[in-house]
This record gives sequence, C-alpha cells and structure tokens, in this order.
Amino acid sequence: MLDVETIRTDFPILSREIYSRPLIYLDNGATAQKPLRVIERIDSLHRNLYGNIHRGVHYLSQECTTLYEQARERVRSFIGAASPQEVIFTSGATASINLVAYSLAQMGLARDSTSPIALSPGDNVVATQMEHHSNFVPWQIVCRMVGAELRMAPFDERGMLDMERLEAMIDGRTRLVAITQASNVLGTRPDLERIIAMAHRRGALVLVDGCQGVVHGGVDVAAMDCDFYAFSGHKLYGPTGTGALYGKRELLEQMPPFMGGGDMVESVSLEKTTWANLPLKFEAGTANFVGAIGLGEAIEWLAQFDPVEVATHEQMLLERATGGLTTIEGLTIYGHDLHKCPIVSFTVEGVHHYDIGMVLDKLGIAVRTGTHCAEPTMLGCRVEGMCRASMAIYNTAAEVDALVKGVALAVNMLRQ
Ligand SMILES: Cc1ncc(COP(=O)(O)O)c(C=O)c1O
Repeated sequence: MLDVETIRTDFPILSREIYSRPLIYLDNGATAQKPLRVIERIDSLHRNLYGNIHRGVHYLSQECTTLYEQARERVRSFIGAASPQEVIFTSGATASINLVAYSLAQMGLARDSTSPIALSPGDNVVATQMEHHSNFVPWQIVCRMVGAELRMAPFDERGMLDMERLEAMIDGRTRLVAITQASNVLGTRPDLERIIAMAHRRGALVLVDGCQGVVHGGVDVAAMDCDFYAFSGHKLYGPTGTGALYGKRELLEQMPPFMGGGDMVESVSLEKTTWANLPLKFEAGTANFVGAIGLGEAIEWLAQFDPVEVATHEQMLLERATGGLTTIEGLTIYGHDLHKCPIVSFTVEGVHHYDIGMVLDKLGIAVRTGTHCAEPTMLGCRVEGMCRASMAIYNTAAEVDALVKGVALAVNMLRQ
C-alpha cells in the first residue's frame, strides 16, 4: 500500500497552515504541489549550473543542453513515444494545442497547399462539450480564420459522451478530432480507443488533451495511436510553465513551425529560412530548460510509486468524497463515469459555489470554484459554476472527511 504519510513529507507546502489551520489542498486539477526533489533541482540549477542550451561551447551551456535532452528522453519514455524527436517541450497543454491548431491552419491558408492534413476552408474539426477551453478556443479561432467548421459533441446527464452523435459528426471533411483524456470538470474518461479508431477510419487526425489523464493513469501514446498528445507539467508535480506536445513524426515533419526565432532554424538568409530538424523546429526562442529539467525530475519522482497503488489510493479518495458529499441535502455531483478520475464537481441548491469555496478557504481547504475554464461543460450541465475537489497522490482520507464536514458546515451557515 502507498505510504501517503511519507509521501507527504516530500511536499514542504503541505505542512503549512492557512488561517491557523492545516492546509488541505484539494485543487490539484488546477495545479499540483511540488516535491522537494523538483524544488531542489530547480534551485540547484540556478545556483550551480545555468547556461543557455544549444548555443554555447562553454561548460555550463553544454551541461544544461545534456540535462535538457535527458529530460526529453524521460518524457519520451514516460509517454511511450517512439523517438525524442516526437517530443516537443512547450509551456503547457495550451501552448501544445495552439501549436497544432495554428500549424494546421497555416497549411490550409497557404496558396500552394495540397497537404491532406491542412485545415482548409470547408473542412471541420470535431471537439466535445467537455473540453477545457484550451482544447476548444484554439480550434474556434483557427476554424474561423480558415473558414472551417467547429462541431461539438454533447454529453448526457451522467457526463458520458454521446458516441452516436460524435460518430455522426466525423465525416470525410473532418481534419481533426480534439478530445480530452479526462474531463477536468466531470472526471469522465472518454472511450479513446473507440474514438481514435472511428476518426482514423474516416481519415481524421486525433489530438488528445492529456492534462488530467496523464496524472491519473498515465499514457502510452504508441498504444493509444493518437496523432498528437498534449499535457502540462505543473499538474504532474512538475514546475509551472512546462509541458509537452507529442506528435507522430511523419506529421510533425510535414507541419510548418508555429513560431519563428532562435534555435528553430537550420539556416537564415535575407530571402529564405530553413528549419532545424525535429523537435527543435517547434522550439523557437530560449526554451524553459530549467523547467523541462524539473519536469524530468517530477517524472522520475512519480516513477518510484506503483501506478496501480496510486490509482487505488486516488480511487478510494474519490469514492469517499463522493459518498460523503452525497449525504448533503440539495447537493448535486456532476459526472458519473464509473472510471472517472479523482475529481468531484458539485453544486448545492440555493447556495452559491463561490460562497462555499470561501467558507472552505477559511477552514484551510483549497477547492476550485467557478467555471473551471470549461464554459461549454457548464452549459451542458445547465449551471453557471460549480465547486470542484480534485485529489492527488498526497491527499488523505482524513482530508476528504474534512472537506465533507466543511461543505456541510458551509451549507448550513449559508442557508440560514
Ligand atoms: C483538461 C485540461 N486541458 C487543458 C488545460 C490547460 O492547461 P494549462 O493551463 O496548463 O495549459 C487544463 C488545465 O486545467 C485542463 O484541465
């Protein structure tokens, strides 16, 4: 069994108090706290080994370059990519998804484009109503830009995707299906195997937003057979401003860079610039190499635990939270996928979600309130906002019980 008490000692922030109460951090879906190993790595790089990568002949630059490329290898092996050239470091899932969206749109807008992967006028992109804004707004922008259509597959009252509607939306003009591995509101894990096969049968690419999924259960992109996979490092116990994009090599080879600048060129003249090989073609400017090395460290830290034990622990927290919250009168939980990730979003009749969040905060309990950057999902649930408790490896049953007690207290207070 997972030794959660020992794991907690790895996280200095978990021993602090908020308003003289022990911190209970249940906003892990927004961002996770950092283990000492990551904090110390970043600190030590800034103190002892800091020089811009891929640019210098000097020791610091060379060493940092080696560590950066080692971090890429760690990410590659963690997500199951075939080659490090298929792993592009970005500032997070949002940047990863924008990269793909703008690159495909650029191809579609080029006068001489005949590429079958270009997003061209008259094409469509299929997304779902349970996407985070990061996997919806970039597609909305580029579809408008090129004159393509964005289609949104709905979900039902249990928070499950309507697979028939989704299938009906994918046609011969669908360039890409943008789908989450796990909803950050409902916790739903769509049937990716089926969706990817369905999209590929019709010649569409698939981009999977792995932000929540990669943390809870991981990924094997090769087995999944997605074309692109995006995730953020900060939700994976890694540093802020880190993340990666996986793309199948033959696709990345065809795609133009999203941003131009240093480090992504092979040669530059007044007339023409040629691009560096993968993955640097997509890494313009000074990369967040300290962050990427920190992300590699977070992945190594996580690798010491048995994924089955982590999943069992998080599932226990999810069930305990769901069971406890359900006893509160007027409380509705959104998302009932049997395989959902450890996220519980809820509203309470007659009580505003912000008010609940504020009372919980005064008890030292951090939860998310609002639309969770997923307004289409709120629309689908017919609410303006929700409270969300999202669990991580370091949370305990006692913390979940405190959450339930705190919500009950808040509701009693606020209803009077
Ligand atoms: C499912 C999902 N996708 C995308 C994102 C965006 O991540 P970031 O803001 O780190 O780019 C989030 C963040 O909450 C998320 O939960």
